[in-house]
Amino acid sequence: MGLLTVEDLVVGYSAADEILKGVALTVEPGEIVSIIGPNGAGKSTLLKAIAGLLKPSRGAICLKGEAIHGRAPQEVSRLGVAFVPQEQNIFPTMSVRENLEMGGYIDAAGSKRRIETIFARFPILAEKRRHAARTLSGGQRQILAMAMALMVEPTLLLLDEPSAGLSPLAAEALFQSVIAINKEGVSIAMVEQNANEALAVATRAYILVDGRNSRSGPAATLAADPDIRRVFLGG
Ligand SMILES: Nc1ncnc2c1ncn2[C@@H]1O[C@H](COP(=O)(O)OP(=O)(O)OP(=O)(O)O)[C@@H](O)[C@H]1O
Ligand SMILES: [Mg+2]
Repeated sequence: MGLLTVEDLVVGYSAADEILKGVALTVEPGEIVSIIGPNGAGKSTLLKAIAGLLKPSRGAICLKGEAIHGRAPQEVSRLGVAFVPQEQNIFPTMSVRENLEMGGYIDAAGSKRRIETIFARFPILAEKRRHAARTLSGGQRQILAMAMALMVEPTLLLLDEPSAGLSPLAAEALFQSVIAINKEGVSIAMVEQNANEALAVATRAYILVDGRNSRSGPAATLAADPDIRRVFLGG
């Protein structure tokens, strides 16, 4: 049984609206699954639906076999799914430490111990703990956003374009952090604009086009496919 199974998902931003027109997605325990596709394909919409921010009009989202669609975002979070949105994923005027406290608001008591673990895991955040988050570099902000999500000790981490706007070097460091988090036992579903990197890091991948599944399979197989190389990977 998959950790996460999404079947025939139809979601939009108003009742009659269909942005996702019957999408399927599976994340097995321990996997990194990348979701790629053109702008406007519905990648962010898919993650928002899984996180409980949008209500599907059809289909199912199950975590360890239990239906989670229709539940409130806080409840989905409590069940072990953490979401890092594409934009505005940190509180810029608050300190790094305060940002982490916000991430752990569900369990204030466990939050102190968890912050220490995160400081050990991401030394740059420890070093900058008293600095306002807006003073961090782009890459450091993305690390902070992921660290906030890890405050709830999720089993599944949803990342929406973690490398957006980063230099190649900072993006590489970010992907290494994603791999390290995964190795520590967190399964990951990641939307990425950087298709080459997304396929290099992932176990499996899905290509979404216009609200529907296009291709999917082992990331290495997709990365070697000439048609996919031409359309999504720049040759
Ligand atoms: N809040 C919203 N209200 C109405 N329509 C929206 C909203 N957010 C997104 N959409 C529409 O849903 C469609 C899919 O958007 P979505 O953000 O999921 O795409 P995406 O694949 O993440 O694109 P990108 O690569 O640009 O981030 C687009 O046509 C977009 O205009
Ligand atoms: Mg998006």
